Amino acid sequence: MGYAIAVDGPAGAGKSTIARLVARKMNLTYIDTGAMYRGIGIFIRDAGIDPDNEEAVCRAVAGVTMDIRYSGGSQHVFVNGRDVTEHLREEETGKLASQVSRYPAVRSRMVELQREMARNTDVIMDGRDIGTVVLPDAQLKIYLTASVDTRAMRRFRELSEKGEAADLSRIREDIRKRDDQDMHREVSPLRQADDALLLDTSDMTIEQVVERIEGLARIRRKNPKVVLAKTAGFCFGVQRAVKTVYDETKGSGPLYTYGEIIHNETVVSDLQKHGVKVLDTPEDVKKAKKGTVVIRSHGVAKDVYDGLQKDGFRIVDATCPFVLKIHQIAREVTSGDGELIIVGDRTHPEVEGICGWCRKPATVIDTKEEADSLIFPENAKLTVVSQTTFNLQKFEEIVEIIRAKGYNTIVCNTICSATEERQTEARRIAATVDAMIVIGGKKSSNTRKLYEICKRECPETYLIQTFADLNLISLAKADSIGITAGASTPNTIIEEVLHNV
Ligand code: F3S
Repeated sequence: MGYAIAVDGPAGAGKSTIARLVARKMNLTYIDTGAMYRGIGIFIRDAGIDPDNEEAVCRAVAGVTMDIRYSGGSQHVFVNGRDVTEHLREEETGKLASQVSRYPAVRSRMVELQREMARNTDVIMDGRDIGTVVLPDAQLKIYLTASVDTRAMRRFRELSEKGEAADLSRIREDIRKRDDQDMHREVSPLRQADDALLLDTSDMTIEQVVERIEGLARIRRKNPKVVLAKTAGFCFGVQRAVKTVYDETKGSGPLYTYGEIIHNETVVSDLQKHGVKVLDTPEDVKKAKKGTVVIRSHGVAKDVYDGLQKDGFRIVDATCPFVLKIHQIAREVTSGDGELIIVGDRTHPEVEGICGWCRKPATVIDTKEEADSLIFPENAKLTVVSQTTFNLQKFEEIVEIIRAKGYNTIVCNTICSATEERQTEARRIAATVDAMIVIGGKKSSNTRKLYEICKRECPETYLIQTFADLNLISLAKADSIGITAGASTPNTIIEEVLHNV
């Protein structure tokens, strides 16, 4: 088989328009399977065969040959060597095509012809059973769909532009019926192949859809070497926190998390479906009905615990043990005459939480410049801790600056081992590949740090939340691709990216 792209999907999803455009961009032959059935209809009519005579039709079609060729920039369909293109769009042809396509023998002859074409040339083929029946070994399978409303609106506009009468609710009903027939017919029902990529075009322009398919097709054609980091995805602390919330959903009464349990929209919206609400502020707590509150792995300030307890909430603490350890250090250091320096992002909930365990204000710094400008009394006793997800290299540079100031300094490297291993592995992979993909939530601090680290080693680094964000056309230039993911990225998202590239 040559290179083949199979595009399936319900009627009105834009399959033929998209397939035609991708074919042009990638120099593939577009096999219009609908036109092939129409060609057979013309052949039957011209041979004087009654289209309702199944036996005669099947006998005639058994030995038929078909070919699709380009001439003058347009596609021509040949049946037994005769160009039938000019009659393809006639209304009578459409009726003949649906009459003859009812016969299983005609359908199987067409499948033979379609496979023959795919053997001899690089093709993109659209229909309803291309990925599942006609070309099960196609290198790329796309299941193109759009909501019934979107497809109905597209059809409505198309008819209105042509000046034809159109009734939107009727069109919508017809599409529903057609979907149902296609999905439940006996021979080759419409269904998504297991290895097909689902592309919902409801909110996409034609150009975006074409770009997506072209990018994917180019990547598959190139078949780059892909390296997935072993440390990609949920760390122990996040896994534990997410599991805690799901376990709690089995109980009764209102269930809340204090802040989003992890920086990942997919997980947060799934939990919402399970009835879990997010409390963001003490004001939210005041307004909420009494119930259970799960504290996420970042932890929270002491006054948040106290407030929840005072307001009668049941607290389930999923704060990561690595973070709890920092709370303990913060409490101890600031209970005496020591000064606490936290290296991290002062706006991050973990750092806010740590500050909330100090008995007196801590100093939070994030950059080497801030470290440089630190001034304490000569006899100050400093203890330095870090946000658990801080960049190790940057932390060491900052610590060096602080030590050079000559204060009595104790350094507690509280970057958690999971973060350290993840960053080290990401750096190593990024240094050896042409392109690097970092997957994680937009608000995730550890994902942003991973991105910074990878970008330094590999200029072609992409930060994405899901596969849909990936610029596939640029990625298709790479011969080798590395993939890593932040601590709050679910496996399903990582697997989707891995499978598709
Ligand atoms: Fe805990 Fe480290 Fe994860 S601090 S939440 S194991 S990134």
